[in-house]
Amino acid sequence: MSAVRIAVLCSGGGTNFQAIVNAKEAGLIPDGEIVLVVCDHAGAYVLERAKKYGIETAVFDRKSIPDRALRERAILETLEAHEVGLVVFAGFMTILSETFTKKYAGRAINIHPALLPSFGGQGMYGLHVHEAVLKAGVKVTGATVHYVTEVCDGGPIIAQKAVEVKEGDTPEILQKRVMREAEWVIFPEAVEKVCKELSR
Ligand code: GAR
Repeated sequence: MSAVRIAVLCSGGGTNFQAIVNAKEAGLIPDGEIVLVVCDHAGAYVLERAKKYGIETAVFDRKSIPDRALRERAILETLEAHEVGLVVFAGFMTILSETFTKKYAGRAINIHPALLPSFGGQGMYGLHVHEAVLKAGVKVTGATVHYVTEVCDGGPIIAQKAVEVKEGDTPEILQKRVMREAEWVIFPEAVEKVCKELSR
C-alpha cells in the first residue's frame, strides 16, 4: 500500500513540524509522506520551514478570514483536494468543529504539552499550559499525542512521555524541556505508528 498523505496544521514556529520532517528524512516514517502544511497565521515561521523542504503550504489567515466556519470550510476543501489521509495538529490554534472531527475520525492526531487528562481543554495551549503546571506545583509534566475528537484534548491517547519539573523553572524553560525531552520524541513516533495502522 502507498504511503499515507499527511497534512501538518500549525500556527507558529513549527518545531514539532521540524521534528516530523527530520524523522521522515532519517527514514523513520516510511508509511507516511508530508504533502501539505496548513497554517492560520500568515507570518508563521513554519511556512519558511516548509518552503525549505519544498512542501506545499496553504494559509488561511485568522485576520483575513475571521469567520471560523468559512476558514474551516476552506481548510476542509484543501485537505480533500490534496487527498490527505492523516491530519497532524502541531500547535494549531483554530479549534475545528464536529463536522471536521467526524470526517477525520481516526485520521487526525494532536500533540498537547502536558500529561492529559491534566492541564487540557479550552484555553490550555502553549505557555498557558506550563504556567498552569507550575502554579499547581506538580513535580512531573510531559506531553501527550492523542486522536482528535469533538472533545477538546479528550480523544484516545496514543503516546505519552513524562518530564521532570525542576526547581526554579519558568514557563519558558519548562516549555523547552517538554519539547526537547517529550514532544519532539513521541510525536514523530506516533505519526509513523498511525500511518502504519492506516496503511494496513
Ligand atoms: C507545542 O508545544 C505544542 O505542544 C503546543 O503548541 C506548541 C507549538 O510549538 N500545542 C498546544 O498547546 C495545543 N493545545 P511548535 O509550533 O514549535 O511545534
